[in-house]
Amino acid sequence: MALQATSFFVHNLVNLPGKTNATLKDSTFLGGSLTDHRKLDLGSSASRSKIEFTRRKVYKTQSVATTSTPPVTRAAPEEKKTLRKGTVIITGASSGLGLATAKALAETGKWHVIMACRDFLKAERAAKSAGISKENYTVMHLDLASFDSVRQFVANFKQSGQPLDVLVCNAAVYQPTAKEPTFTADGIELSVGTNHLGHFLLSRLLLDDMKKSDYPSKRLIIVGSITGNTNTLAGNVPPKASLGDMRGLAGGLNGLNSSTMIDGGKFDGAKAYKDSKICNMLTMQEFHRRYHEETGITFASLYPGCIATTGLFREHIPLFRLLFPPFQKFITKGYVSEEESGKRLAQVVSDPSLTKSGVYWSWNKDSASFENQLSEEASDVSKARKVWEISEKIVGLA
Ligand SMILES: NC(=O)c1ccc[n+]([C@@H]2O[C@H](COP(=O)([O-])OP(=O)(O)OC[C@H]3O[C@@H](n4cnc5c(N)ncnc54)[C@H](OP(=O)(O)O)[C@@H]3O)[C@@H](O)[C@H]2O)c1
Repeated sequence: MALQATSFFVHNLVNLPGKTNATLKDSTFLGGSLTDHRKLDLGSSASRSKIEFTRRKVYKTQSVATTSTPPVTRAAPEEKKTLRKGTVIITGASSGLGLATAKALAETGKWHVIMACRDFLKAERAAKSAGISKENYTVMHLDLASFDSVRQFVANFKQSGQPLDVLVCNAAVYQPTAKEPTFTADGIELSVGTNHLGHFLLSRLLLDDMKKSDYPSKRLIIVGSITGNTNTLAGNVPPKASLGDMRGLAGGLNGLNSSTMIDGGKFDGAKAYKDSKICNMLTMQEFHRRYHEETGITFASLYPGCIATTGLFREHIPLFRLLFPPFQKFITKGYVSEEESGKRLAQVVSDPSLTKSGVYWSWNKDSASFENQLSEEASDVSKARKVWEISEKIVGLA
């Protein structure tokens, strides 16, 4: 139990390189396993072109200060325009961070949120119970665990004629107690298939739409995690994220003629999640290197904090789910509410001071954002290129 309590604790200790607890073992999430449309008036490009722009209004910003002032890149909006309502797609907006972000953005009245969710009814109910006004959201079906579904979602979105200003790749699955792998509709290990490959295909297919957007600050955000970063104490809790030489990924993660793990090892659900998060953070940086200069799109990732109450832990054992939130609240005091995490992600979506591209954002104890340092592997340029090249083959883009 001491081991388990320790592993709970480390989740919140960020940026403590070298402070690995060598006695920790077993699979853990963030260090904690106890066992092993709007009907937008923009329905057509013709009507879209009729939108009148007036002087740009100042965004409502968070009361928090940014500890580092990122240099404003070409995405900075200085034009004499008033912002039309922005359109943001958020994957996995039916619960947790995604729902809280949808609510935070919708409440400003400046955003229309496309809730891209696999369970249409659950998403509708979630939006309703969160009090999101009908005119500020649209639910669209997206199952990231199926390339066909991703392609269908993109086709449906394009057909709707809406602009795309910001895409938030937020959805994720986490299977910390799974003994055996499960697979996407395309026969790929579920965590990497959903969290990384589904989002990789989605972002690649929607990039052109973002390029076409006339919104002053276009952004592609891929939610990361401390657990994929081994330069933190939490990231050092076994099983540690590591992509190795990516032989499993190159083999398609199918468990037939290749391993289900990126590094070619034995299946481990907690590690698969962490590996998928490294892929998320590497992909964001590779997008930045390939497309920021050309498109002006801001590419960013973030660690939203430990949101101990979300559905991400649904597959964990009941005792963990019972103890994890109070432990984070009262012992480590690193707990972040869903509401607060939603404000953080909404900041990365819309705050004019967060336009720097290629950044992995985090927040300090005073809820001030800062540019965080990624681990060596999560910022490895050649690994990012390799993840990109293998991934585009798997999703059928190369
Ligand atoms: N919770 C934390 O402490 C924490 C810490 C760091 C990072 N994060 C990251 O935050 C993000 C959101 O996680 P959360 O904590 O808010 O968990 P959550 O409440 O479980 O939300 C995950 C969302 O992803 C959706 N999803 C899962 N599989 C999907 C699929 N195949 N297709 C489409 N949507 C799918 C879920 O849909 P259903 O509602 O239908 O299940 C749900 O809406 C994840 O990227 C996670 O890695 C969380």
